[in-house]
Amino acid sequence: MDVNTYTFSPDDEKLTYLPGQFFMLTIFGVGEAPFAFSSKAGKTFQSTIRKAGLVTEALHKLEVGSKVGIRGPFGKPFPLEELEKANSIVIVAGGIGLPPLRSLIQHIFVNDFPNQIILYGARTPGDLIYVKKFETWKKDPKTEMLVTVDKGDDKWKGNVGVVTTLFDKFKMPENAKVVTVGPAIMMKFVVKKCLELGVQPEDIIVSLENRMTCGYGKCGNCAYGKFLVCKDGPVFTYEQIKDVEGIF
Ligand SMILES: Cc1cc2nc3c(=O)[nH]c(=O)nc-3n(C[C@H](O)[C@H](O)[C@H](O)COP(=O)(O)OP(=O)(O)OC[C@H]3O[C@@H](n4cnc5c(N)ncnc54)[C@H](O)[C@@H]3O)c2cc1C
Ligand code: FES
Repeated sequence: MDVNTYTFSPDDEKLTYLPGQFFMLTIFGVGEAPFAFSSKAGKTFQSTIRKAGLVTEALHKLEVGSKVGIRGPFGKPFPLEELEKANSIVIVAGGIGLPPLRSLIQHIFVNDFPNQIILYGARTPGDLIYVKKFETWKKDPKTEMLVTVDKGDDKWKGNVGVVTTLFDKFKMPENAKVVTVGPAIMMKFVVKKCLELGVQPEDIIVSLENRMTCGYGKCGNCAYGKFLVCKDGPVFTYEQIKDVEGIF
C-alpha cells in the first residue's frame, strides 16, 4: 500500500495544533515536505502519508523508532468557531484529502458541533483509507457518511462514481458550511456543485496545496496570486480565492 499512517512522538513538550494546520517533516539527508495532522493533538500525533517522491519514499523505508525532524505547526486551521455556529457541516474528501479532515471529524465528535455529513471518494476500494473507522463514525448520532469509488471490484457493493455523484443522494441542508479537501480537479467540481445548490462562496472552505520550502511566509515559494499558501492558508474560503488564476 502506498499510504501509511505514522505516529510521531516529539522529543520535547506536546505539540499543540488545530485541525487544518500542517507541519514540515524532515528526513535527514533527504529533504523536507509539508503534511497535515490527521489526529487530535496529544503527546503523540498522527499523519497519513502517501508515497509521492523523495521524502515520502524515504519515510516509507524507515524503521519504527527512527528519528525525523518536525517543524510546526504552521498555517491557518479550519474556521472552527464559524463551523460550530453553522446549521450543518458537509465534509467532502477525495483520496488523500481525508487525513486533515479526519482531525476535523474527531474535533466535531468531541465538541458541541452541528450535524456533519461526510462524503468520501477514492479511486478504488483498495484506495479507501481509515475503512475500519467508518463504522464508528457512522454510529455517531450527529454523523451521516456516504462513500464512493471511481471503479468498483467484485466485492464492492457501494456507490460507483466520482464524489460529486454523492450530492444526488442527500439534500444539501439550509445554511450549511462545506469543507472540501482533495485533488484540485475534485475540489473544482465540488465547488461548482455547491454553488449550483445555492451554497454561498464564503460558506465553501477548501484546503490548498503548493510546493513549500520555509512553511511560514518567508521564501514566497508557495504563492498563488497574492496569497502564500503556508501563511494565509492552507485553509481558505472559496470567496477569498475565487479570482486567483489557475487555483484549481
Ligand atoms: C499543507 C499541505 C498538507 C499536505 N498534507 C499531506 C498529507 O497529509 N499527506 C500526504 O501524503 N501529502 C500531503 N501533502 C502533499 C505532500 O507535501 C507532497 O506530496 C510532497 O511533495 C511530498 O514530498 P516528496 O519529497 O515525497 O515528493 P516530491 O519529490 O516533492 O514529489 C512529489 C510529486 O511532485 C513532483 N515534483 C517534484 N518536484 C516538482 C516541482 N519542482 N514542480 C512540480 N512538481 C514537482 C514529483 O514528480 C512527484 O510527482 C500536503 C501538502 C501541503 C502543501
Ligand atoms: S513556503 Fe515559504 S512562503 Fe510559503
